[in-house]
Amino acid sequence: MRKRPLVLLVSMSVVVAAPWLLERIGARWGAAQAAGAESPKQEAVFNYEQANGKKLFEHYCVVCHGASGEGDGFNAFNLRPKPRDLTDQAVMLSIADQQLAEAISRGGRERGKSNLMPPWGHTLNERQIRYLVAYLRTLRSTEEH
Ligand code: HEC
Repeated sequence: MRKRPLVLLVSMSVVVAAPWLLERIGARWGAAQAAGAESPKQEAVFNYEQANGKKLFEHYCVVCHGASGEGDGFNAFNLRPKPRDLTDQAVMLSIADQQLAEAISRGGRERGKSNLMPPWGHTLNERQIRYLVAYLRTLRSTEEH
């Protein structure tokens, strides 16, 4: 029980510091709002595989599939057919992980799809493709909410 005074001291200082801290945070928040910054969206919490997949996706896939995965990357207007909307649950749930991994690894042609979806099996290893599949599974349409 000797720790008690210390605990008390710490909690006291938190109580004392709290208004000051809140004010600081409030000031920053206000400044960000005034600068027209978007209010920060609540970040999704990713596990290790998903987080790695996200990084890979941002590096290799967003040019066509778009940052949200909805198929609106800056390169997408060039493509016929358009890149698949990877947030479309009805479609995505009908494709098994293994099939997604194969589509990524061997490209669209392998699944009877457009060969504009490149094969990534030479660039990415199996582990990275697994990460990508894990990340694709987290994508949800922004319109549904
Ligand atoms: C050069 C543009 C381009 C890039 C880069 C690209 N894709 Fe695609 N992707 C496409 C197109 C186009 C399709 C649609 C093929 C179709 O429906 O015929 C597609 C389809 C897909 C599909 C659906 C396959 C299926 O079975 O229906 C998945 C999954 C996919 N891409 C994942 C990825 C991932 C992961 C990356 C990054 C490693 C990536 N793509 C990079 C163009 C691209």
